[in-house]
Amino acid sequence: MSLKLNDQYVTEFVSQDELKLFQREVDLHRDQLYKKEGKGNEFLGWIELPDQMDDAILSRIEADAAEFRKHADVVVVVGIGGSYLGARAVCEALSAASFSSNEAGSSRTQLVYAGHHLDQDYLHNLLSWLEQKSFSIVVISKSGTTTEPAIAFRLLRELLIRKHGRTSAAERIIAITDASKGALKTLADAEGYKSYVIPDDVGGRYSVLTPVGLLPIAVAGYNIRELVQGASQMAGFLKQKDRLTENPAAHYAVIRNILYSKGKTTEILATYNPSLSSFIEWWKQLFGESEGKDGKGIFPAGVTFTTDLHSMGQYIQDGHKNFFETLLTVKKSRYEVFIPEDANDLEGLNYLAGKSVGFVNEMASRGTMLAHVDGNVPNLEIIIPEITPYNIGGLIYFFEMACAISGYILDVNPFDQPGVEAYKNNMFALLGKPGFEKETIALKKRL
Ligand code: PA5
Repeated sequence: MSLKLNDQYVTEFVSQDELKLFQREVDLHRDQLYKKEGKGNEFLGWIELPDQMDDAILSRIEADAAEFRKHADVVVVVGIGGSYLGARAVCEALSAASFSSNEAGSSRTQLVYAGHHLDQDYLHNLLSWLEQKSFSIVVISKSGTTTEPAIAFRLLRELLIRKHGRTSAAERIIAITDASKGALKTLADAEGYKSYVIPDDVGGRYSVLTPVGLLPIAVAGYNIRELVQGASQMAGFLKQKDRLTENPAAHYAVIRNILYSKGKTTEILATYNPSLSSFIEWWKQLFGESEGKDGKGIFPAGVTFTTDLHSMGQYIQDGHKNFFETLLTVKKSRYEVFIPEDANDLEGLNYLAGKSVGFVNEMASRGTMLAHVDGNVPNLEIIIPEITPYNIGGLIYFFEMACAISGYILDVNPFDQPGVEAYKNNMFALLGKPGFEKETIALKKRL
């Protein structure tokens, strides 16, 4: 197992005795999860998902992705929340901020995203840009009725039909949606789009290892088999480890709950790899939507260092101490860049000549961790050897399991999201959606 949890810098905030007290609770919650007897047990399909992604489904995804890559320079991934964050997180992590991915001759198809907000300037510019491009669409929505992706898809579909005609446009669209119900399913059947199913028992934020994440990741040219294999290996490892200190997912879940009980109501996930910034967004959704309910939950925040040491560093070091930090460390970079000697040395950097930028980044991370611990910020560390599809697959599964255990310790249902409906209902009422007439009158009075 390649992932490690370093709890060395929380020991002064969480004692071994406090940890041990949670062993029985962890046993209970792991049992509830594996036997599907806990809260939200109708959404536990993600637990065995990596092993269910068999050769047949992976081959189908790879074949469709290859076909898309042949006919399109750009693929627009339309979706929001759990229907888009995972694919973006993995693709950006694996791209390592490649500057060549958008250039002609690159082996990668460019992915762009739509339907994850309602900014019309963005949509206007995207649609104008796509006029001159050969593009295809992967539209992802379990319900098929989510407003943001539904609007974006309607606009993009119209453009595609205008450019290619209805029949060819249909060949450039793949829909990923519910097995039987929902508007997108009806549309896909009527128009003859290829489609994939989001399993009933997998919620949006746990769906990255279904076609929801795997198809866009394969379209972008990354190895989905290694990703799934990493998740599967992590699933096997976590299942087999009963002792909480040997099970990093349970260990992490318990430490964060102990810290929460001591007033640490925010967790800051920090990375020194900007290519993991979108992964932090995925993590924020996973934990925020799973735990923030019933008036409880740790607020998940994220920072990308060293960039944010020049913005949020001051607050973390010296501000109000209601948070802890979890550092997501990548041991080995993909490339090495060495600092050159300079004859004049006006910036005084010659003491670093011959050292790699990675070494400087590592020392920045060690120094910051110690400074923050000295500033009374508990620091946890999750370490992966390098950013590869295999390790990212393992990391995804690790966080999913940790989130499920943590939610159960918090005594919430980590698999529903009732709070999301409040904004939707108000928006529908203000938009004048049929069926919301009474709410429309009440809300308009308040504006
Ligand atoms: O995690 C979730 O369930 C949500 O974030 C959904 O994925 C998001 O609201 C999009 O829903 P849908 O796929 O139905 O369009």
